[in-house]
Amino acid sequence: VLNGRGAQAPRHWRAAVLSLALYSAVAAGAGAPALIPVPRDARLTGSAFALTAATPILVPERDASARRSAEYLAGLLTHLGLPALALRTERAGEPRPAPAIVFRRRPGTGLEDYAVAVDGGEALLLAHGDAGLLHAAVTLFQLAVTDGSGGASIPGIRIEDAPRYPWRGLMLDSARHYQSPEFIESLIDWMALHKLNVLHWHLTDDQGWRLEIHAYPRLTEVGAWRVEAGDAPAHDLDPETGEPRRYGGYYDHPTVRRIVRYARERHVEIVPEIDLPGHASAALAAYPELGVPPVTVAAVPNSWGVYPHVFNIDEATFRFLEQVLDEVTELFPGRYVHVGGDEVQLEEWQASARVATRLKALHLKSVADIHGYFMRRLERALVRRGRRLIGWDEILTPGLSRSATVMSWRGSAGAIEAATRGNDTVLSPDPGLYLDHRQSDAPWEGPGRVTVLSLADVYGFDPAPPALGAQASRHVLGLQANAWTEHMRTEARVAHMMFPRAAALAEVGWSAPEPRDFRDFLARLAGLWPKYAALGLPAADSVFAPRIEGRYLEGGRTVEVTLANQGRYGQLRYTVDGSEPAAASPLASEPLLLALPVRVRAATFQDRDRLSKSYARDFSAALAGRRASAELKLCGNAIALTLEDDAPIAGPRAQFTLDLMHPCWIYPQASLAGITRISAAVGQIPFNFEIGAERAKLRFPPPVTAAGELQILLDSCEGELWLRLPLAPAAVSDATTVLEAEAPARGGTHDLCLRFAQPSLEPFWALDWVDLERPAP
Ligand code: ACM
Repeated sequence: VLNGRGAQAPRHWRAAVLSLALYSAVAAGAGAPALIPVPRDARLTGSAFALTAATPILVPERDASARRSAEYLAGLLTHLGLPALALRTERAGEPRPAPAIVFRRRPGTGLEDYAVAVDGGEALLLAHGDAGLLHAAVTLFQLAVTDGSGGASIPGIRIEDAPRYPWRGLMLDSARHYQSPEFIESLIDWMALHKLNVLHWHLTDDQGWRLEIHAYPRLTEVGAWRVEAGDAPAHDLDPETGEPRRYGGYYDHPTVRRIVRYARERHVEIVPEIDLPGHASAALAAYPELGVPPVTVAAVPNSWGVYPHVFNIDEATFRFLEQVLDEVTELFPGRYVHVGGDEVQLEEWQASARVATRLKALHLKSVADIHGYFMRRLERALVRRGRRLIGWDEILTPGLSRSATVMSWRGSAGAIEAATRGNDTVLSPDPGLYLDHRQSDAPWEGPGRVTVLSLADVYGFDPAPPALGAQASRHVLGLQANAWTEHMRTEARVAHMMFPRAAALAEVGWSAPEPRDFRDFLARLAGLWPKYAALGLPAADSVFAPRIEGRYLEGGRTVEVTLANQGRYGQLRYTVDGSEPAAASPLASEPLLLALPVRVRAATFQDRDRLSKSYARDFSAALAGRRASAELKLCGNAIALTLEDDAPIAGPRAQFTLDLMHPCWIYPQASLAGITRISAAVGQIPFNFEIGAERAKLRFPPPVTAAGELQILLDSCEGELWLRLPLAPAAVSDATTVLEAEAPARGGTHDLCLRFAQPSLEPFWALDWVDLERPAP
């Protein structure tokens, strides 16, 4: 699929920018085609094509790949309620049925280039390459507008299209959390829908080794399983063993072959990652002889962050790695193998006498040279197998071979250095393309890194920073967004964090850089939204979802409610009678003055189509003083996360927004007049973060009771201690507990600082919500 420089847009496409602008102006209007990524050149021509149950799809003779794309298109269209259209072979000289959808080869160079030409008589899908034919097919699917009675119409249009970059990737971390093969196949379909063409599959890490290796069965027998962190998982015993239930899973060879074939048929190349020589804990738990004595890894660990464990540099270890690469390259036929190279800690090598002896034998000056040595050995091993090495930007050491590809994650500096040296590079910088960042700051956004990476942020990503220069930018293969799954426990969360941001990524990677208009993109996304639903793609609605905010008015009888959404897009409609908002519900264009108590439900629409789930929020005198942790200010932003509780094992879990390094919260401008009681929901979570020496910097105020207290201080965290809520009642529960206390009378308006006085780091206490209660008038 990665057809290198050949896939870059030929020069004459630059001239198409004008017509793109014209197209975009049309696309922003109602009923215009909702294409993502936007094509280089598209012109609406007038007469539409009517798609019916009787429309055949014609494919060229003896063209198995075209036939597969035709079948793929027919399958996609069934999701819109059309029956499976019949496939026919088009033979030269035979009369052909009209109207028809026609797949046809045409001469060309770029394997991904394609054209679409639709009028009343036919819908023609043209390409030179196999990938181009599939791109044309998904384009036709995106163009189809259903008529509600089993048919669809395709607008008259002429499209000529080609990608800006040959690498448009998503990285899925299957090590931190495991996803089913069925989910990964769905993901490949969602990628193909957006012309994304590289799935970087992160298969090994400290917390799990997920790829079966026949030569080393313990990698998955041992390395694929861990006991999750926290008291709740420790108490969740497996009846068969009497031991805590293990979390995990792995992909065996038949499953990998099936997924690879599935991806190839959708022209998605899978780049497997075996992360070396760090992020090694799971492998070392399985085969201790691969590690650096006397360090041992007793079991696959369950903390997030960076472990110090590394592979040793014995010859036997390289023999092990060669055998692993034999199986990896046998399973994955693509050009690239990713060997990690990120976040390698030197301390175990530094402390080892055996490593010191090996260094001498290998003529290496210091442990700092081991990383480069490791990568050179891996690169030679891959070249012998006809493959190319790709690694994270730490592989940029002086001896790095020119044929290695560098994936820039610590910003874009790695890409600039690599490209300047003449190495190919892929941009996947943190934070710009790191999908573990939440995409909104709404209280319901869910777990992830707190600093927001919105859909607009991804859409605004610039893969051609000026610092790169024209010469070096020729080495930029493209870009990739990474889904690290520490905080994506379920497949639904992975889908939520990936889409629709992956749609924005697809457009940045595929479409011409100019013009780029986020509102126009949103209009096309809104047009595509019903198709996401039809395909079962559970994309996050964060950009469209109504935020329901209330301001309680003096007197305690009314609330002023405003509705807005992140994208400032669509029609926000609401109800207050308990019914689901519908396309006919009133618009919330002005602030609403509502009598208490009231439940406001809202959803965002584009005409009849719903663009968001429906969201509800209760307002009452009793709730006026209540704030969730996500609605409070954090005392810091060092490692700010929204984390899930570890309990209950099944069912919904509380979510805590906090800065791990400064676990305290500010309730700004609290009016304390008349407040008589305080309640607060707190939870204890495992401190399962490998943060090295930083751990010692975490300090807590001294508690006055054995289990500690939640403290509330006035005006600042150095201010007067107003109240203590003892944690003893919460210490016995794995889930959240509501603490309550009388509040000493206090008037005025104050910032409140909430923090925990606790005897030790664990259990690590977190605030779910706090409520300042006033007796009912
Ligand atoms: C990385 O995020 N450690 C590549």
